[in-house]
Amino acid sequence: MRVVIQEDYGKMCKWAADYIVSKINAHKEDRPFVLGLPTGSSPIGVYQELIRRNKAGEVTFKNVVTFNMDEYLGLEREHDQSYWYFMHDQLFDHIDIPAENVNILNGMAEDPVAECARYEAKIASYGGVDLFLGGIGVDGHLAFNEPFTSLSSRTGVRDLTTDTLIVNSRFFGNDPSKVPTQALSVGIGTVTDSKEVLILISGHNKARALAASVEGGVSQKWTCSALQLHPAAIIACDEAACGELTVDTYKYFLDIEKKERL
Ligand code: GLP
Repeated sequence: MRVVIQEDYGKMCKWAADYIVSKINAHKEDRPFVLGLPTGSSPIGVYQELIRRNKAGEVTFKNVVTFNMDEYLGLEREHDQSYWYFMHDQLFDHIDIPAENVNILNGMAEDPVAECARYEAKIASYGGVDLFLGGIGVDGHLAFNEPFTSLSSRTGVRDLTTDTLIVNSRFFGNDPSKVPTQALSVGIGTVTDSKEVLILISGHNKARALAASVEGGVSQKWTCSALQLHPAAIIACDEAACGELTVDTYKYFLDIEKKERL
């Protein structure tokens, strides 16, 4: 696993955007580049940078197919807190990606289980995800895979923990009872099957989750720790998120990453 430590959130986002752009531009196959994407506040700076580079002609998304990580169950697309709405507002409406290349789980599907199976099959039909960008929750959840979700889970319906309802209530008038209690989410296995995984971890409140991801054992308690089993996982983080790493770990990654490289 690589851990790329950047001074602050802005630099972390710029590094991640550089990495994504380099991968898209290096992709020379006829089939599309398949990019997994998250919501949340962590990726917003990356999306702004991708928009800027797309407008500057440095990257095109015409041959990119995206799969989002998750969606609340029971929210209409048009709801301003749906992840469909978020993704269009924050990224898709501002780049040159064809609408048919965007895949987001349908939180209003009549049969949510069938919707999840369809989604997994569609990912497989493209030959899997090339690069899955993600964020994590303060409890280390990856997509909506809360603590104790199987590390081999596939896309499915998830119950959200009270902790997550409270954290996410900031988008629902600070009222946890307004947050949907279930979501559709790719599984940990879906993410770790990707050729590459790039996870953004920013801020003091994610310090425990970063330490658990990097230094703790692989455990379903911290579902993000499954990244340790991935052959090409990268965590891009900022200094603020490093507060719970041991000094040795922190120094190791600064040392090994000090050569300028993507
Ligand atoms: C939600 C999403 C996750 C995201 C997490 C962290 O729970 N389902 O995919 O990683 O929030 O969000 P933030 O980046 O705002 O801390």
